[in-house]
Amino acid sequence: PKRRITAPQIAARKGGDPIVALTSYHAHTAALAERHCDFLLVGDSVGMVMHGMENTTGVTLELMILHGRAVVRGTSRALVVVDMPFGSYEESPAIAFRNATRIMKETQCGAVKLEGGAQMAETIRFLTERGVPVMAHIGLTPQSTHVMGGFKTQGRDEETWDAHVADAVAVAEAGAFAVVVEGVVEPLARRITDAVPIPTIGIGASARCDGQILVLEDMLGLNPWVPKFVKVYGRLGPMIEEAIEGYAQDVRARAFPGEDQVYR
Ligand code: KIV
Ligand code: NA
Repeated sequence: PKRRITAPQIAARKGGDPIVALTSYHAHTAALAERHCDFLLVGDSVGMVMHGMENTTGVTLELMILHGRAVVRGTSRALVVVDMPFGSYEESPAIAFRNATRIMKETQCGAVKLEGGAQMAETIRFLTERGVPVMAHIGLTPQSTHVMGGFKTQGRDEETWDAHVADAVAVAEAGAFAVVVEGVVEPLARRITDAVPIPTIGIGASARCDGQILVLEDMLGLNPWVPKFVKVYGRLGPMIEEAIEGYAQDVRARAFPGEDQVYR
């Protein structure tokens, strides 16, 4: 039987060894990633990274379920967390519950993630009290891009810090098992991490978090441009292009298929 890491096991790692996470949208890369990660997030960034969208507001529940299912099928050990897309949870706790359970039933993932702080606390409590583990997401919340006027680093103005800390405390008190902290200045990340009893998972939020997450394709060098907070650990873009170029040259030179690839 498959034994996966659970949401409570992630929660219990507050203040301990750093939690390692990556986004994942795809069965084969998920299988590689889970060998080294504690959880995998099927992020709604899939809309931008895999489907060429400009932001995440166009991502649907069906798209999240399709990729969530692929990642669960491709893995056996990591906790798989699936993002709830824009419009699928904000309206009411009951609607959020209906859509979260649909994601869990159809993907067999172990938790969902949703964006928002204090204003989503009631929904987080409603879900967790009814069997849905919730990862929260505060700071820079990409689904609010049209309200914020783009993707903007949070906490540059010290007067906003208390509100961000209050968001973290509210989602933790509501029962979130962990919270993604995105795009905040380092001293704010430290304040948030010190203020809550659940792990903070940082992205663009310094080393002062209990764990880190990156978009896999960003750290693999598959995107031509990456933000400042990304460290590129591989250069897959040029490697892929080289392979494609070799194939194209071989076909044009009638060097592929060769002896080894032909049925006799
Ligand atoms: O969608 C996503 O990839 C995310 C992570 C960046 C946290 O929400
Ligand atoms: Na997301």
